[in-house]
Amino acid sequence: MKGEILMEHTPKTVAIIMDGNGRWAKAKGLPRTAGHKKGADQVRDVALEANRRGIQKLILYAFSTENWKRPEDEVSYLCKLPGMFFNKFIQELMDNNIRVTFAGELERFPESTAKVIRRAVDQTSHNTGMELCLAINYGSRREILLGMQKYADEVASGARKNDLSEEEFSNYLFVPEEIDLLIRTSGEVRISNFLLWQIAYAEMIFTERPWPEFDEQALDECLEEYSHRHRRFGGLDDEN
Ligand code: IPE
Ligand code: IPE
Ligand code: MG
Repeated sequence: MKGEILMEHTPKTVAIIMDGNGRWAKAKGLPRTAGHKKGADQVRDVALEANRRGIQKLILYAFSTENWKRPEDEVSYLCKLPGMFFNKFIQELMDNNIRVTFAGELERFPESTAKVIRRAVDQTSHNTGMELCLAINYGSRREILLGMQKYADEVASGARKNDLSEEEFSNYLFVPEEIDLLIRTSGEVRISNFLLWQIAYAEMIFTERPWPEFDEQALDECLEEYSHRHRRFGGLDDEN
């Protein structure tokens, strides 16, 4: 039962590949953009529930470095979504003490898009509840590459020794945390360049449910399933 799940069985970090907006819309005879619009409403529901459930950081894959390949009108709609989302929900995020951050390179977006995201980050920066991290123009390979370029520069300039540890490596990434639970909606069983380093020991849940139908209850079901998993990190658990 929900209330009985121990805190130690609650993941600290949850990452979601929010997939299936387009297929959901198409199945309803709607344009793909209608799926993205409904998907943004789900972000609100899922973020509030994740915060209630004591998750520390929720990372949502909103736009990948490969999504620029999509038709111009879809990309342009996706660029407008952050503005629409924050206009509608920033007050609720504030009321719930949620802190917004992002992972990825904002520079490639139109200035208006980058601006609304930065404003949401600034406005919520003193909140002490859950961190809601939007992975936007995010690609894990690019993230690793940028981190290693920075590291190489530091070594070359003599600012540090060439003695990187796994923990320090993480600090060169947009997302330094290990992921406890990774969820992908809409049936595809792949990672699509998301958090490759950080999911080394993540529990994974792939659900058929499309993102526009992924609600609080769907998140609760994933958390319930997570609470029954035995994580061993290469060692042995108590039962063995
Ligand atoms: C996820 O839904 C949203 C983004 C990738 C921006 P999709 O747009 O990938 O929807 P499908 O997978 O084509 O149904
Ligand atoms: C992954 O979904 C990216 C996001 C959810 C933002 P895609 O729909 O882009 O992934 P592929 O193309 O099916 O692998
Ligand atoms: Mg997709």
